[in-house]
Amino acid sequence: MRNLILTGFMGTGKSTVGKILAERLVFRYCDLDAQIVAETGLTINEIFSRYGEEHFRSLETDRIRALANSVGFVVSTGGGAVIAAINRRLLHEAGVVINLTASTDAILDRLRGECERPLFHRNRSPEAVAAMLAEREPFYADADLRIDTTGKTVEDVVAEILRFIE
Ligand code: S3P
Repeated sequence: MRNLILTGFMGTGKSTVGKILAERLVFRYCDLDAQIVAETGLTINEIFSRYGEEHFRSLETDRIRALANSVGFVVSTGGGAVIAAINRRLLHEAGVVINLTASTDAILDRLRGECERPLFHRNRSPEAVAAMLAEREPFYADADLRIDTTGKTVEDVVAEILRFIE
């Protein structure tokens, strides 16, 4: 396995699970959103408000393209990284793709008080979150393994992933 890639909607646990998985596998951990923030010197909110979502998506694709040359990373992608077909293809080429899911209620609960996610800010009702999940479902489904994290501990999810890849 070259890299392990975590996909999923906001609040499905990609970063929390990813950091622990990296420790267990003795891989390096990489958060694509954090990389974009570090490289641009702007927050995700600032990128969206100054340059728009499309610009953010192009930065995301640049980062995903760079993954093609990397080995030994656990990578957390942003929730919308799988929307573009090119990104999905590049992610599969980069490694094993694991999609984390959660119920709408669990997502809303985990994102309570959240302010650094512009798309969640615009779509924070249960109906809007459910609609985004439904719209993105075919893209999230394009994964080697899917795990519903609802009601599970981080350790449960990590163990499930380790069993799958071992
Ligand atoms: C987004 C999810 C965010 C971030 C950006 C857009 C989305 O990442 O990339 O706000 O489109 O779902 P997280 O899933 O890490 O919150």
